[in-house]
Amino acid sequence: MDAKERIDFLRKELNKHNDLYYLHAAPEITDYEFDQMMKELQNLEKDNPQYYDISSPTLRVGSDINKAFTQVKHRYPMLSLGNTYTKEEIVDFVNRCEASLNEPVKICAELKYDGTSISLTYEEGKLTTAVTRGDGEKGDDVTDNVRTIRTVPLQLKGDYPSDFEMRGEVLLPWKEFDRLNEERTHKEEPLFANPRNAASGTLKLQNSKIVASRKLEAILYYMLGSKLPSDSHYENLEIASTWGFNTGEYTRLCNNIDEILDFIAYWDVERKNLPVATDGIVLKVDSIRQQEELGYTAKSPRWAIAFKFKAERAESILREVTFQVGRTGIVTPVANLDPVQLSGTVVKRASLYNEDAINALDLHIGDTCYVEKGGEIIPKIVGVDTQNRKNVGPKVTFIKNCPECGTPLERIPGEAAYFCPNQNGCAPQIKGRFEHFISRKAMNLDGIGPETIDAFFANGLISNFADLYSLSLDQIMQCPRSKSSESEEVEVDKTGGENSLSFEDPKSVAQRNLESSDEILQDSIFAEVEEISSKADDSRSAEDDAIFGGLFAQPTPTKKRKSSTPRRFTKLQAEKIIKALNKSKEVPFERVLFALGLRYVGETVAKRLSHAFKNIDSLSQATYEDLITVEDVGERIAESVIEYFSDTANKALIERLKEKGLQFSLSEEHLSERTEKLKGLNIVISGTFTKHSRDEYKSMIELNGGKNTGSISAKTNYILAGENMGPAKIEKAQKLNIPIIDEEVFLKMLE
Ligand code: IVH
Repeated sequence: MDAKERIDFLRKELNKHNDLYYLHAAPEITDYEFDQMMKELQNLEKDNPQYYDISSPTLRVGSDINKAFTQVKHRYPMLSLGNTYTKEEIVDFVNRCEASLNEPVKICAELKYDGTSISLTYEEGKLTTAVTRGDGEKGDDVTDNVRTIRTVPLQLKGDYPSDFEMRGEVLLPWKEFDRLNEERTHKEEPLFANPRNAASGTLKLQNSKIVASRKLEAILYYMLGSKLPSDSHYENLEIASTWGFNTGEYTRLCNNIDEILDFIAYWDVERKNLPVATDGIVLKVDSIRQQEELGYTAKSPRWAIAFKFKAERAESILREVTFQVGRTGIVTPVANLDPVQLSGTVVKRASLYNEDAINALDLHIGDTCYVEKGGEIIPKIVGVDTQNRKNVGPKVTFIKNCPECGTPLERIPGEAAYFCPNQNGCAPQIKGRFEHFISRKAMNLDGIGPETIDAFFANGLISNFADLYSLSLDQIMQCPRSKSSESEEVEVDKTGGENSLSFEDPKSVAQRNLESSDEILQDSIFAEVEEISSKADDSRSAEDDAIFGGLFAQPTPTKKRKSSTPRRFTKLQAEKIIKALNKSKEVPFERVLFALGLRYVGETVAKRLSHAFKNIDSLSQATYEDLITVEDVGERIAESVIEYFSDTANKALIERLKEKGLQFSLSEEHLSERTEKLKGLNIVISGTFTKHSRDEYKSMIELNGGKNTGSISAKTNYILAGENMGPAKIEKAQKLNIPIIDEEVFLKMLE
C-alpha cells in the first residue's frame, strides 16, 4: 500500500469509527486504537502535504495556531424566532397560519436548544465553511473550530445536494460544562456562567486545539438550499441524518394542537433529564411550500415560533441590598435574601441589575420577592408580591457614592449602569487590573494568583504594576498571607504539621458558588453589561471577555487551612514569584500592551496596535486619525487609547515598567515578518479570493521566500486558486500534475 492508499484507508476508517462512537453510541474499537490510527494519519499527512484534504479527520484534532476570524456574509440571513409563553399564543399561531394559507398545516415540534447557533455550508458533500450568527447578516468564520466537533460531518454520505446549508446549535453538554468549570476552579480561572456562554466562548477561541479538547456537540435543525430533498422539513431532517448529521432524536410531527400541547407538557418535565440545555420548544410549519407562502417579517419567519419554558421560580424575603464594585468600576446591586430552595440549589443572593431595574420593581426591604433561575447559575429577582406587602422597610434606592472608596458614582452615558471613576484609587478596580495583568494571556505570571495579589495589596506592597517588579525576596517572605491566599498555595510544604491542607467535600461547582460566593454574582452581572460592549467590539475574543469579567463568574477557593497561625510565603514560593516576574520581562510587546488593560483593548486589538505602531512611544503619540486606520480599531477603541495616554499616571507607570525591563517595542523577529517557508517555490495565483486580495497573496508569497509567477508551466509548484479559476487553467494544471490549493491550504502552509 503506498502513502496515498494508506491515507485514504485511514481517513475512511477514522470517519467510520467516529460516527459509530458519536452518532450511534456503538464503538467497535478502543480509544487507544482510534488515537493510534489518528497519529499515523497525522504523520502521513505531514510527510505528504500534497494529499491535504479539507475533510480529513485529522482536522478534528485542532491546531495550536492562533487565528483571527474573518467575517463572512450569510447567504440567507440568520433570523431569530418570535417568543410565546402561553398555550393561547400557540393556538393563535396555528390558527393564524391556517387562516393565511387557507388550508391545514402540520407542525414540526422540536426542542429549543440553548447553545449558540451555527450555519454550515456543504459543497459536493464537504464541509466548506462554518459561520456564527453574528449580527444575522454576517458572522465569524469559525470553520477550523467547528471541524473539531465530532458530531459535525466533514464528508457526507449518500445522495446529498451539491450545495446547501445546515443550521443548528453548538452545545456544551451539561457533563462537559461541569467538568470544564471544575477544571477552571482548580486552575483558579473564571467560571462559565452557563453552557450557552461556554459554548459560544469556546467557538470563538482562537486556538482550535483547546476547542477540540472541550467536546462540543452540534444538533442541526434547519436545511436551506435551492434543491432540498423533500417538501417536508421533518423529512429533510430525517434524510439529513442519513447523510451523517445529528438532527436530534426528539423531533415530532404534530397533526393538531393537542399533539403540540402534549409534546410541550412532556418536555417541560423531561428536559431536565437531557444531556444538553434547552430553554423551550420550537414549532415550525412543516411544508416548505407553506413556509414560503407565509414568508418572513423583518426579524423572524412567520412560519415558526418559539415557546419558552417558564423558569423555575421561588419566593423569598429581601433582607438587604448590597453594592459591589467590579474591576471595570461598574457598581452592581445585589439582593440578599432569606435562603430558599430553587432548582436543587439554595439561593441567598440574586441579581438586581441596575437602578432602573430596582425602580421598576419598586423594591422595599422586607418585600417578598419572586426569584427565577432561567438557565443561568445566577438567579434574578423578577417581581415583588406587592399585594401582600405590609410592614415593609425603606424603599431601596441606588447609592450615590462608591461603597469601596466613597467617590461619587457616575452614570455611563446612554446606559443604566453606574461606575466609580476612581480607577487608580479604588481597591477592587486596582485588584481587578492586577488579576488581568498576571493572567496567562497577558504577563503569564505563573505562581502569582489573585490571592497573592490580595496579600501584596493589603500589605501595601503594590499599588501599580511596576511595584510588582520592585518586590524583593525578603519583602515577599515577610508579607503576611490572608486566609484566602493560603488556599492559593501551589506546593504543599513538605514539613507537614501546620502546613497540611484539608479539602472541602466535593459539591457541584454551581451549588458551591451559589452558597458561598459573591464574586460569582458580581461577574455574572457584568456579563449583562459587558456583553453589550463585547458585541460592539467583535475583535475581543471570548477569552478576552473572561479576563475582563465579561462572560464568566469567579471561582471560589476550595481549600481550607486547619491552623489559624498567621502564614507567610515560603522561600520556595517567593523564589517562584521572583522567577516568574523576571521571566515576564521576555513577554513580547503585544502582550504587554494587552496586559496594561486599556479599556476595549483585547488581545487582538493589542496585537494590531503593536504591529501598526511598533513601540509604545509611537502608540502614545498616535492621533485619533492614525488610530482608526488600524484594522479592528474603531472610534471607541481609538478614544480609549488616547484617553489612556493622556493620563500622566499611566505615562509614569510605563516609564517605570520600561526601567524594569519589560518589552515596549516589537522585537527584531516580530518586525521582520520574512520567512523561508516558501523558499524555491513558484506559485501562480488564479481566480478571486475572499480572505485576502490577490496583491496581498502576492506579497505573502514573496515575504515568505516564494516566487509569484504569471503563467502555469512545468516549473510551477502550486496554483493558488480562488473562485472562478478558468477551465483552461484547470486543464493545464491537471495535465502538468500541479497541485491546486485554495486560500485555506495556502494560509496553512504559512503557519
Ligand atoms: S429554527 C428561522 N430550531 O433559537 C428560524 N432555532 O430565536 C431558524 N434554536 O437563533 C431557527 N433550537 O439559535 C430553530 N430547534 C430549533 C432551535 C433553534 C434552538 C435557537 C437558534 C435561533 C434561536 C431563535
